This record gives sequence, structure tokens and C-alpha cells, in this order.
Amino acid sequence: MLEAPNFIPYARQSIDDSDREEVMKAMSGSFLTRGPYVQAFEQAIANYCGAKYAVAFNSASTGLMAACHVGKIQPGDRFITTPNSFVISTGVASLRKTTPTFVDIDRKSGNLNIEQLACNANLPASRGKTVVLPVHFAGIPVDMKKLDQMLRNPNVLVIEDAAHALGSRYPSGEKVGSCRWSAMTVFSFHPAKNLTTGEGGMVLTNDPDLDERLRRFRNNGIEKNGEMQKKMPWYYEVEEITGNFHMTELQAALGLSQLKRLDFFISKRQRLVALYRQLFKHTPHLNFFSPKHDAYSAYHLFVVQIDFKAIKQTRTEVMRKLYEEGIGTQVHYIPIYRHPVYKSSLGDISPFFPEMEAYYSEALSLPLYVDLSEEEVQKVCFCLKKVLKRAS
Ligand SMILES: Cc1ncc(COP(=O)(O)O)c(C=O)c1O
Repeated sequence: MLEAPNFIPYARQSIDDSDREEVMKAMSGSFLTRGPYVQAFEQAIANYCGAKYAVAFNSASTGLMAACHVGKIQPGDRFITTPNSFVISTGVASLRKTTPTFVDIDRKSGNLNIEQLACNANLPASRGKTVVLPVHFAGIPVDMKKLDQMLRNPNVLVIEDAAHALGSRYPSGEKVGSCRWSAMTVFSFHPAKNLTTGEGGMVLTNDPDLDERLRRFRNNGIEKNGEMQKKMPWYYEVEEITGNFHMTELQAALGLSQLKRLDFFISKRQRLVALYRQLFKHTPHLNFFSPKHDAYSAYHLFVVQIDFKAIKQTRTEVMRKLYEEGIGTQVHYIPIYRHPVYKSSLGDISPFFPEMEAYYSEALSLPLYVDLSEEEVQKVCFCLKKVLKRAS
């Protein structure tokens, strides 16, 4: 559906003339894919995050698939993650024929409860290895240093889903993506995220072997570094059947251009979140995540929690009323175990996740993006308060 020109969506990319110029330059280059822009973008993201290696993909979903492939996740492994995420965070376990284990969340951050996560991960595994996949929900970082201290098995494989968190920092100060406490970290560059390449993703690691295997996974399992190729440059061998998951040069050119403004993007998002907090202060039946995360989060999303029972309106009614005022909202997330694909095999496990269920019953994502103006934030607050007041 086409929205009116002054419609305020819940998320939107920020593209300017410098982005357009860079993409046009890439169009005129010798390569449209697998060329210097992709290499430069990988190096720039690795430098920005403080990791040794970065491998670009055509989405975070394929990046997560690659990470699980090179992490050799297999049936019998224990895969522990959060239910508060987009389905692929768990879907990658299912694609590797592993049954996911969920742990409940902490309502103050929307992230998984790391005490529960560590308890689960420290249980002796009957078969296979243990894999944990934390998601930095909305950009709010999971405390990876603390989690690392709590994990008592040095063989736990940790893969961070940082689709929301390019530019976030851990409470200990390092950038998300440094891979200081994980084997790999995966970012998304979808248009709703903090930096966009249209579609796109990146996997970061400090391990040269994982880097090499991620590159091979991305490129149909083709191996070009063998002895034979030194003698015959045209020669290649296929080591495994994977697929083609390359990012194009045009996407990488856009990403490189956007990266120049990333710190500005993040400070603008943080300013808008501060304004929302100020305008919503003391609003009955409305809560947000603890402000203690504000200095560390790159704020991909701004989620409020509304007591819909107390205001005697459903979330859908509130969303519709805001839509009629020209305001888009979203719900992040439907608990992953509620999707038919998991419910059919796991049954109804919602009673085991009281925090996730309570959060889900109240969550609403309000508009947050770089080109959102302060006047528009004021309009969103005014309209939402009007809807809440009308009901009480
Ligand atoms: C937490 C999380 N992980 C992974 C993904 C997949 O990202 P992509 O759309 O780049 O495949 C998303 C997408 O929104 C996400 O929110």
C-alpha cells in the first residue's frame, strides 16, 4: 500500500546525494560484483568494529547460515537462543537439523536472560557441542563479557546475531562486532537497519580459518588457493555444495558511503530516543526499556510497552488509530516458539516463558529513523497520548 507523502513509517533508510554518487561510480567500474568495493567495505567494517576479518553476504540471513555452516553445527548439538527475535535467528538451527532451546528474556532490555542462558549452556551435553546465539535486540547489547565469564565450558560456540546492533558498544566499552567473546558476529544492512546496502549482511571473526571457510561458503564452495592453481590460474576445485551469497559492488559502494555517516546516524537515533523518553515521562500505562542501556545502544528500534488491558483497547486498535493519524508502528517480536513451524513440533511452550509472554502482550515499536524530525516525534507522542487518554 502506498502511504501519503507525510506518512511517518516505523523505519526508513536515509539516502543522500553522496550515496547516489558512490553507487553511480561503482556502476561505471570494471566490476559489478566481487571487486574492490566489496573488499574495501569488508575492511572498513572490520576496522570500525575492531575485528580482524569481515565477509560480506547478500543478507544477514545468509550470513547466519554461513556462520552455522562453518561452525559445523549438526544434529545432536544443543542450540540455545532467545525467542525475542526474527525467525531466522532460530531458523538457522532448524536448517542444520538441530532442535533449538529457548531461554526467557529480561523485560528490562528485551534481551535473553544471561543467567538462564549460562545455566542451560553449563548443563552437561549428552551429545554434540553447545552453541549459543545471543541477539542484541533493538541494538541493546547483551553483556558478552559477563556471559563469557559465566560460561564454564570453553568449547561453547558463541555466534552473535547483531543484525540490529552495528555501532552498539558492550557495557565494557568494546564495539559489538569485535568478536572478543564470540567466534562470529553477524550484521544486517536491510533498509530498516542503522546502515543499509538495500539487502546485505556481514560476518565478522578473528579466526583466519573461519574467514577462509566463510568466503568459500559464499562462493559455491569453490576453493582457489590450492597448489594446482599456482601452476594453472584458471583452475579451481569445489570442496562442498553451498550456493552463491555474494554482495554486489553497488551494494558495497552504498555501504561504504553510509559508513561515513554512521556515527552521526547513531547520535541522531540516541537524541530522538532521549526526546521520546522526555515527552512520555510519567505517561500512565506506558513503559520503556531501562535508560541504563542508552549510552551503549545504537538504537535500531524504539520499543514501548503499553498495558493494553488497563487502557481497555487491543494493540491492533491502537495501531489502527495511529495509522489513521499517519503514523506507522510494528511489533517486535512474535515469540519465535509461537510460529506454526515450531508450535507443530514443540507444542505450546509459551507458559515456560512468562517474561517473553508479558513483554509480547505489551510491545509496540514506534517510528525511529535518522530523517525523523523532532516535530514528528512530538506528533507521535501527542497522538499516542491522545489514544491512551481517550481509553482511560
Ligand atoms: C535479529 C535479526 N536477525 C537476522 C535478521 C535477518 O536479516 P536480513 O534481513 O538481512 O536477512 C533480521 C532481520 O530483520 C533480524 O532482525
